[in-house]
Amino acid sequence: MKESLQTRDSWNSKLGFILATAGSAVGLGNLWKFPYTVGKNGGGAFLLVYMIFLLLIGYPLMLAAITLGRKTKLCAVGAYKSINKNWAFVGFLGVLCGFFILAFYSTVGGWVIYYLIEALKGNLNTTDSTLLANIFTNFISSPQKSILYQAAFLFVTYLIVVKGIKNGIEKASKIMMPTLLIMIVIIAFRSLSLPNAIEGIKFLFIPDFSKINLNVIMNALGQVFFSLSIGMGVIVTYGSYLDKKENIILASTYIPLLDTFVALVAGLATIPAVFSFNFEIAQGPSLMFITLPAVFSSMSFGYLFCIVFFILVLFAALTSSISMLEVCVSYFVDEKNTKRSTSAIYITLVIFLMGIPASLSMGILKDFKLLGSLNFFDFYDKLTSNIFLPLGGFLLAIFVGYVLTTKVALEEITINNEKFILSDIWCFLIKYIVPPLVFIILINSLKELFILITN
Ligand code: PHE
Repeated sequence: MKESLQTRDSWNSKLGFILATAGSAVGLGNLWKFPYTVGKNGGGAFLLVYMIFLLLIGYPLMLAAITLGRKTKLCAVGAYKSINKNWAFVGFLGVLCGFFILAFYSTVGGWVIYYLIEALKGNLNTTDSTLLANIFTNFISSPQKSILYQAAFLFVTYLIVVKGIKNGIEKASKIMMPTLLIMIVIIAFRSLSLPNAIEGIKFLFIPDFSKINLNVIMNALGQVFFSLSIGMGVIVTYGSYLDKKENIILASTYIPLLDTFVALVAGLATIPAVFSFNFEIAQGPSLMFITLPAVFSSMSFGYLFCIVFFILVLFAALTSSISMLEVCVSYFVDEKNTKRSTSAIYITLVIFLMGIPASLSMGILKDFKLLGSLNFFDFYDKLTSNIFLPLGGFLLAIFVGYVLTTKVALEEITINNEKFILSDIWCFLIKYIVPPLVFIILINSLKELFILITN
């Protein structure tokens, strides 16, 4: 645990915790994944289910994870293990999940780097959908480029984690994150003022109940977990760095609020523009990369805006990717006594190798399906968002609700006599709502995956 204690020393202020945790939560999940997932899952109907899951599942679990971390002052595996040895596997599950998420997250991180370079060259200055689609397709069709940029993203993640300059990154996020927030609000205003933008607003906010089906429900739950970084130990680990005198009720309220705000504004920046420019709303992962350059091109100072925006997206992606790599690295350092630098390099290499087929999924491996209709990229995404993260969240709720017990958790939450007016509701949700609800959805996700495997 020595290493984690060292890190722990370096940011035991509340702001440090909020910045790091918000940094982990706010990332490509909000800016890239949320808008296209809304687009593919029926708009307002998806948003409604998302909001319900956020309140009933995401928010209570955020508090549970922070509480578990701060109570034990240990990283994810240690936290479970110190209370009950048989539960160490939950931490391990999180580590495994980290490998799979980062394998496809780094693919998209690579896209961001490529787009930043294209923005600098002034190549994104058009509102022509065919041209923009060509830029994206040409890039992802080139195996060398896709792999190279994915490697670059992972290498930067690796450098930050191994050099222990996370502290610097957290400080930098004090400037970068608010700037990113202001920028997407401006972009959203621009997007909302485009002709026909109202269609996008209707799509996003008016639910069409007939669109709600099992798939929408599974994807909404997955998106809540993914976006809040819940279910793989990141929040438990970060919570362990938090000082006993801090108010964790407030901390665990700010983060989901901020995270949801960013996702919604990203939706408002992207979706109205999609309708205005007549792009395809259900196109999937390429949505942000094709739509936002068109919005920038229709703005004054668009060239500059585009560059700054991609720098900030890259930054937001890195503060998330370092949190994933950190969970994996600290597991090997703490549990297997491996040197930090050695584990970091090997883990990054393994993730890189796992990520290669994900990076090629939309290019030369386009016709290669790993499972049913899923290519590598989709498989990693589904496996983590729909199975690993919900499973981790389910186990976290059972653990805090029944093993640690909500009584002990509440003592930790109100250790400085904080008033927790929702305490009864929170206990009820953690014990009786989160486990069965997540379980039912999880079973369906497993069923779906099983059908894909056997077909
Ligand atoms: N929450 C991050 C994002 O929105 C992704 C993430 C998932 C980070 C799980 C850590 C753990 O981009």
